[in-house]
Amino acid sequence: MKLSEVVNLAKKVSSFSYSPYSRFKVSAVLVGKEGVFTGVNIENASYGLTICAERVAVFKALSEGKREFEKILIYSPQKEVLPYPCGACRQVLSEFFSEDFKVIVANDVEVEEFSLGELLPFNFKL
Ligand code: THU
Repeated sequence: MKLSEVVNLAKKVSSFSYSPYSRFKVSAVLVGKEGVFTGVNIENASYGLTICAERVAVFKALSEGKREFEKILIYSPQKEVLPYPCGACRQVLSEFFSEDFKVIVANDVEVEEFSLGELLPFNFKL
């Protein structure tokens, strides 16, 4: 799947974001040979129950028995901010994916690409 197609899918599903508290829409597209899974951030009036878009995408895939992925795109339509994954999501990604797994962050003006190893060096593993 081409990057432009992944970005277009992320844009499409970002309207499903449930973010009435932060008003910060995020979507994620997880891509690999086993398929493509999308996610959006889903907030809650009890703020701590909010779940980030990338964790929704990863948990959807895992719960369907899919684990082989090469990259995730995290997208926000807000122009001023790139949606770098939070620390908790980096730790979740590192539980399932290797250091060379690609993490791409994008908004409507910029795209940046990292390896998971760059975003979470010295990751905690048991
Ligand atoms: N958020 C994500 O969905 N992914 C990230 O990597 C960063 C933050 C969401 C959580 C919350 O709904 C909103 O962005 C503002 O923090």
